Amino acid sequence: ALERTLSIIKPDAVAKNVIGEIESRFEKAGLRIVAMKMVQLSQEKAEGFYAEHKERPFFKDLVEFMTSGPVVVQVLEGENAILANRDLMGATNPKEADAGTIRADFADSIDANAVHGSDSAASAEREVNYFFAAEEICAR
Ligand code: CMP
Repeated sequence: ALERTLSIIKPDAVAKNVIGEIESRFEKAGLRIVAMKMVQLSQEKAEGFYAEHKERPFFKDLVEFMTSGPVVVQVLEGENAILANRDLMGATNPKEADAGTIRADFADSIDANAVHGSDSAASAEREVNYFFAAEEICAR
């Protein structure tokens, strides 16, 4: 099915100057960027985004990392976009990520893991709406 998913290029990848290389992987895989923006997340915005992890031991470090510098947030659209994006990203822990994935190539640690992608249709819906108003998404 034609899906939309939320993708975030995290502060580590922005600092490494590989925004374009990562966007290029989405495009080469046939995903279309239908919305995008560069933002510095506030603590509140990052905490709200990751609310489901609030009780996890890594929550504080995660929020600290995600607010440590600008991120690039985009909506990717395409056939099975949610899974397609997860395949492009590779495993959450870059040590476990398959060769050729974004995390294998650009991530340094489980915290500084270069990208985020929605993990289900329900989270994609919530996450897209968390960052973008309907009129900011350009139908293509
Ligand atoms: P992300 O897909 O953005 O969702 C939550 C993030 O928490 C995850 O990527 C990792 O960067 C970070 N994280 C840190 N430690 C863990 C862990 N033990 N398990 C899962 N995610 C973790």
